[in-house]
Amino acid sequence: MHLPLSEMYNEPDDRNVLDRMRQGVIGQPLDRPEGALKVSGQATYAAEWRIDGCVEGVLVLAEIAQGQVTAIDRDAALARDGVLAVIADPAMTRRSAQGMAAKAPQQDAAKVEYFGQPVALVVARTFEQARDAAVALRVDYADAAEPVPFDPHAPDVKVEAPSSSKPVEGGDLDQAMRDAAFSVDVEYDTPGHASAAMEPHATIAQWQGDSLILHGSYQMLAYNVKEIADCLGISPDKVRIIAPYVGGGFGSKLGITHEAVAAALAARELGRPVRVVMSRQQVFQTVMRRSETRQRVRLAADAGGRLIGLGHEALVSNLPGEKFAEPVTQATEFLYGGENRLLKVEVARISRLTAGSVRAPGEAVGMQVLEAAMDELAEKIGIDPIELRKRNLPATVPVQGTPYSSRMLTQALEQGAQAFGWSARQDRPCQTRDGDWWVGMGVASAARVNMMVPAQARVTLRADGSALVETDQTDIGTGSYAILGQIAGEMLGLPMARVDVKLGDSALPPGAGSGGSFGAISTGSAVLYACEEIRKRLAKILGCAAEELVLKDGTASHGDAAPRPLRDVLGGEDLTTTGKIKPGKTAKAFSQASYGAFFAEVGVHAFTGEVRVRRMTGVFGFGRVLNAKTARSQCLGGMVWGIGSALTEELAFDTRDGHLVNHDLAEYHVPVHADVPAIEVILLEERDAAASPLQAKGVGELGICGAAGAIANAVYNACGVRVRSFPLTLDKIV
Ligand code: MOS
Repeated sequence: MHLPLSEMYNEPDDRNVLDRMRQGVIGQPLDRPEGALKVSGQATYAAEWRIDGCVEGVLVLAEIAQGQVTAIDRDAALARDGVLAVIADPAMTRRSAQGMAAKAPQQDAAKVEYFGQPVALVVARTFEQARDAAVALRVDYADAAEPVPFDPHAPDVKVEAPSSSKPVEGGDLDQAMRDAAFSVDVEYDTPGHASAAMEPHATIAQWQGDSLILHGSYQMLAYNVKEIADCLGISPDKVRIIAPYVGGGFGSKLGITHEAVAAALAARELGRPVRVVMSRQQVFQTVMRRSETRQRVRLAADAGGRLIGLGHEALVSNLPGEKFAEPVTQATEFLYGGENRLLKVEVARISRLTAGSVRAPGEAVGMQVLEAAMDELAEKIGIDPIELRKRNLPATVPVQGTPYSSRMLTQALEQGAQAFGWSARQDRPCQTRDGDWWVGMGVASAARVNMMVPAQARVTLRADGSALVETDQTDIGTGSYAILGQIAGEMLGLPMARVDVKLGDSALPPGAGSGGSFGAISTGSAVLYACEEIRKRLAKILGCAAEELVLKDGTASHGDAAPRPLRDVLGGEDLTTTGKIKPGKTAKAFSQASYGAFFAEVGVHAFTGEVRVRRMTGVFGFGRVLNAKTARSQCLGGMVWGIGSALTEELAFDTRDGHLVNHDLAEYHVPVHADVPAIEVILLEERDAAASPLQAKGVGELGICGAAGAIANAVYNACGVRVRSFPLTLDKIV
């Protein structure tokens, strides 16, 4: 039986529904239900689907940065063994949209705007034939008449205010800097980053009449369907995307990428399925990057160590016309006090691949710099850096006056200090030596905005007393299968073995998608609401109030009545409903963010300047913990990326022709096992009624937001060298 749509909005929800349930699965560190499939190679990733008659496409990338394609030698390519088609269509040069708009800006068919932009797709019977022909494909170019610079700091670069954010201005920062008893005015650089998801971008496209089915690797299916439809000029209801397993995204799969459109176009032209898998190098060169940043931070404190002024200004970059601008100052808006303030982002228009959302856009690089600057201020004042942070937590958001929904920052700093052994830290650098290594400790706050987006999920309590959760929500390695199942299991009183979760198919109700740490709380809230509707119906059948209903281990009871198996209560009928949520008043009425603290101990080699992270502790408060294992994994992964951001990761572009030099994992250095010490993750329990009816906030990106700052601060504490250019490679330290 279909129940009415359970539609509610995100008003402050004090009912604390999940804590009143009895099953006891919510929050538990349960394994992912799909984990065994993944580690045994049985989970089917995008490129692995076996589809009859499928042929292979390989993208050809521009080998100039800016200009026009004047000719493509199709005939020579088509004369080669097995080659079926050479496709060159403006739709496939469309940039990854980064969640900015489902409609693509009009693009000149043959215009090249960055080195590595796709210019053609070669399709052949086998992958090897396609790759050979792609390498051999002759493309002629004419150079651009008015090229834009490759370098964001070039003297002739055009700098613009982004359309996506406005400056925050309050009081008189310059005056506050003059009045300050202690101040810092520093400039930091952070390099570009690659998402470097484990699974390269891949799509298999097949047409059935005028309908398109894509097996691919995407983060936001409902949105991606619209993008694809827009690119191909077809109706969104003719597009279906299937993506049950996604091998990481980190923002790079928020928007559709070039291989998807290319595969769809080729499949339409050839009348057969086409698979396009990007190589690792193509992913690096073509998909998108995190912008490099130059950040000026001004901190003005009074004699008591309280901020009276705060400035955070950043220069980021993107292609001309792109809307996205790394929101560097996002957390600076609400984290610390200082009513005299100026927070501002500007964009340099340059020729490098599209800059977009890479894990924790804004905070990832903004926090690492703000927290390093705070360390500099603590040293000037001569107080403990933890104390400085605690002294500067405002009662309401400076300038805006918005109250905080909940904030576990003080607890995270205090509990982390205890667990980490912060009291052993020396106030001055160069005090601790272990053989040839200087040893030091650093701390940083973590903060990441909390967001909710519209989401739907369908839940069916089946006549046999098991449940099915269905939504197009993706699981990009984050734990969606586990969490959504746990919410349903808790609400319906079912052990996890009796809850099935079906995800990653755009034919299912539209979930939030995976992005911005909003997937679990948004889609999870939709699951919660659907289950509440089912509970109401069960209560009605049993003749009790919904609040009296107790569901546990597949039975229903109320008052003194003996528990009855659900299948008896249901009397052969399924109960189905779709839950729906969208952000309501609380989204704007409260400053919502997840918080935490990072502690790092590093060794700096006294002769080579090499930095090794020796241990790290992270403490995080993000509302209710939905699954302590998957949440911990997110935090841990974020901290590992923090190590990369601090010490190794850096996109390097050739200053002569704009090409990305280190376009693979051999040259773009992400931390490997030997770089990652034991990392301790402590999760704080919290409830946040304004954030979601689950009383949970986002955690996916929190673990990276400030982590690199703690490491940089530890490096200074170890050896007394303050490096203001990330990553902290040994050449900058020695
Ligand atoms: Mo995230 S960078 O919004 O996938």
